[in-house]
Formats: sequence, structure tokens, C-alpha cells
Amino acid sequence: MTGVRIHVYEDGAIPAELFARAEALREQAWPGGGPHDPALRPVAMLLVAPDGTVPATLDILNKDIVHGGRSYRASGLSAVVTDTAQRGKGHGRQLVAAARAEMAARGADVGLFTCDRSLRGFYGSAGWDVLEGSVLIGGTPEDPLPSDAPEFDMITLGAFFTERARRNADVFRNSRIALYPGEIDKLW
Ligand SMILES: CC(C)(COP(=O)(O)OP(=O)(O)OC[C@H]1O[C@@H](n2cnc3c(N)ncnc32)[C@H](O)[C@@H]1OP(=O)(O)O)[C@@H](O)C(=O)NCCC(=O)NCCS
Repeated sequence: MTGVRIHVYEDGAIPAELFARAEALREQAWPGGGPHDPALRPVAMLLVAPDGTVPATLDILNKDIVHGGRSYRASGLSAVVTDTAQRGKGHGRQLVAAARAEMAARGADVGLFTCDRSLRGFYGSAGWDVLEGSVLIGGTPEDPLPSDAPEFDMITLGAFFTERARRNADVFRNSRIALYPGEIDKLW
């Protein structure tokens, strides 16, 4: 599709028409899902076609974390979805690659998220690295949800944006990373 553009909106700032279209995509993939926790400062990224339709959408969630004794501004991807009728055309890849750049531009030190193992090639082709042996711990300290729980088959994707993060990238590999995003967005 030619002429698609990427729109970026802070939480709550999406025009109603685009919001409805993005919601319809999310409903295709995750029926009945609710809004994100505002504490995670969600940022919506939408691919918008010239006719106003939305072929793909995703959200960036944000949280400060401590890992290996240092604090980092972490961002992750959530609710990445392409319209079922528009899959396989490169929209998803375009959007998750743009999200990587958007996180860096917004000042994140690291990008971190989990996904199903089958999507390794998809994210890899968009510039995301697989953090071998790394586990993100979601939920809360009292009720943790690790990405290596028996019900999951997940990998952890990462990107290191700042010099400080790049210097310490090795401590994110083969490690358990305490993300603890809370009870609403339990794991991203
Ligand atoms: C995953 C998803 C967003 C991909 O969107 P898309 O626009 O079809 O992806 P693209 O056309 O950009 O595909 C890029 C590459 O990834 C591959 N790929 C896409 N979806 C894939 C999937 N579900 N499993 C494995 N590989 C996939 C494509 O084959 C393509 O590879 P190629 O260039 O070698 O042919 C889409 O399948 C989707 O919405 N799935 C349901 C929701 C979901 O699972 N989201 C991810 C949550 S982490």
C-alpha cells in the first residue's frame, strides 16, 4: 500500500475515528481487552492509509526499571496487530521498526518486551535483537508472572538505545529482568 503514514499519539490524544479503527483491530486479535494502565504512559502508533483506514497499530508502554543495580528508562511493545485482511504486506514490520526508533527518540535507554517464539523472525527483520536466555518478570513482586512460566513459549526482544545501556547490554542477556508492570498490563 503506498502513501501510508505513521501517526503517534500520547495516551488519550487519538482522534475518535482513528481510535475506533485501532480498537477494531485489537478486537480481532484480543477480544474484550481493556485500556492500558495510564501509569505506563502509553503511546499509540498507527499506520494510516490515505483513505483513513488503519492497517496496523501498536502501543508503546514505559516504565523505569532497576537491573544489575542500575536504573533504566525501559519501553516495550504491546498489542501489535495488523488487520487480518492486510497481513503479509510488510505493515507490521514497518510499524515495529518505527516503534524502535520512536522509543529511542523519546529517551528510552532500553527497549524490552516478550513475544511468542514463532515471531522471532518477524521482530528480527525489524531490527529487534533476541536476548537469549532472558526472562521478563511481569505482574507484581507479590504476584509475579515470568515469561518462562509453563503456559508460555516466549522469547525476549531487546534494543539498547543509549550509550549507558549499550555499555551494560550484557547484563540483560541470560538474566531475569524485573519489569513488574502491575496488574493491568501484566506482561509486555
Ligand atoms: C504479527 C503480525 C502483527 C504481523 O503483521 P504483518 O503486517 O502481517 O507482518 P509483515 O507483513 O510485516 O511480515 C513481516 C515478516 O514476518 C513474518 N510473519 C508475519 N506474521 C508472522 C507470524 N504470525 N508468525 C511468524 N512469522 C510471521 C512474515 O512472514 C514476514 O516475513 P517475510 O518477509 O520473510 O515474508 C500479525 O500477524 C498479527 O496481527 N498477528 C496477530 C496479533 C499478534 O500476534 N501480535 C503480536 C503480539 S507480540
